[in-house]
Amino acid sequence: MDRLNIIGGAQLNGRIRVSGAKNSALKLMVACLLTDEPITLTNMPSLADTRFLAQLLETLGVEVYWPKGESTCHLNAAELKSTIAPYEQVRKMRASFNVLGPLIARSGHATVSLPGGCAIGARPVDLHLQALEAMGADLKVESGYVKAAAIQGLKGAHIVFAMPSVGATEHAMLTATLAKGETILENAAREPEIEDLADCLNSMGAKVTGAGTSTIRITGVEKLHGTTHAVMPDRIEAGTYAMAAAAAGGDVTLDGAPVEALGAMIAKLREAGVTVDADEAASTLRIRRNGTRLKAVSVSTQPHPGFPTDLQAQFMALMSLADGTSIIRETIFENRFMHAPELSRLGADINVRGQEAVVKGVPQLTGAPVMATDLRASVSLVIAGLAAQGETVVNRIYHLDRGFERLEAKLNACGANIQRLSGEDE
Ligand code: EPZ
Repeated sequence: MDRLNIIGGAQLNGRIRVSGAKNSALKLMVACLLTDEPITLTNMPSLADTRFLAQLLETLGVEVYWPKGESTCHLNAAELKSTIAPYEQVRKMRASFNVLGPLIARSGHATVSLPGGCAIGARPVDLHLQALEAMGADLKVESGYVKAAAIQGLKGAHIVFAMPSVGATEHAMLTATLAKGETILENAAREPEIEDLADCLNSMGAKVTGAGTSTIRITGVEKLHGTTHAVMPDRIEAGTYAMAAAAAGGDVTLDGAPVEALGAMIAKLREAGVTVDADEAASTLRIRRNGTRLKAVSVSTQPHPGFPTDLQAQFMALMSLADGTSIIRETIFENRFMHAPELSRLGADINVRGQEAVVKGVPQLTGAPVMATDLRASVSLVIAGLAAQGETVVNRIYHLDRGFERLEAKLNACGANIQRLSGEDE
């Protein structure tokens, strides 16, 4: 298994171009199932997760043309040859579950594996299933699979989500585009990726309004057509590099950054004493910190527009070096502090109490071998390693490859010293 060898202590200086958003790309790819015409996605991030979903789509009969190293992906679901999404594929990549509704909408039936739990929490799909049932799908759970049919077709429904779920909102929105009549989604999630998906669906002829607010209305249409759509930039990748620059010190400009989507993070970085120049018109974010120590700042993760759970681990790495004590509360997932004991191996002083982590900043971290546990946890270890004195080895970095495109290349171009080593874990 590959690992990363990081020699810490170097400041970061330079520019980093932000890639397309993983969590948007995955749902945009699923949208291809809703039409028999070709869909072209540009600004596609080439990641383990997006490549993996491409394979599942191929299993279903989608023609995928996406040469290695290219950021344009062509998807053509002219004819579906299967409506079964197998366990091996859905288990590895949860977003695959979102093919269920589109397959029912397109073919009238589908069999999709339940995704199971994951490292950061139980992550049930009850809200997804409730939404599909409300739209007239007949669902049975058998042997770990959801077997679904909508003999009479899907119909619009008024759905009030018990909590804002990104995945359930997107799943319901995708499915409702081809349902008969109007669907209203209340208490919908407001993440920017949902707006990106709505824009793409509308460019395919769907009628979606209100995406980005908590009430989304979708008027079903008979048929959707092909389109070309650019994937929005990745706000979590941008936020991660902003925190890497803040932790290591230096002067880094992020090009193509989704500035507006990063409001909560920018506010926290500024509170911590980091200089942030945000230029929405130019889509740039310049992050600067000269030798001054960071101030401790507390944070609670919230659905958008609050502070994102996907930046919590990175912020914890940053706060482990701050002057004072910060309280980090995780309110979205129940088990998303697996990075805390690994950060402690680098000398961080972190105490986890239920959904809260108490982080007492230390003046210096020291390199050590650590283990990645999930995507965002892994990158928090990279951030800590960049700021630490000496050598940090991050093991099990296949997690990182699921969501960060050319991570070492991007950071090394700014002066980081990261090397990828192949072979056994330490
Ligand atoms: C998306 O996951 C993202 N993944 C996650 O990013 C992100 O952390 C999360 O949204 C929150 O922003 C993708 O977009 C592929 P949710 P999703 O449904 O849609 C509970 C990353 O690192 N819930 O908004 O699965 C759920 O358990 C990943 O890139 C139910 O109870 O998140 C959680 O506690 C990790 N029942 C909360 O809602 C349901 O049916 C929010 O989850 C659905 C969700």
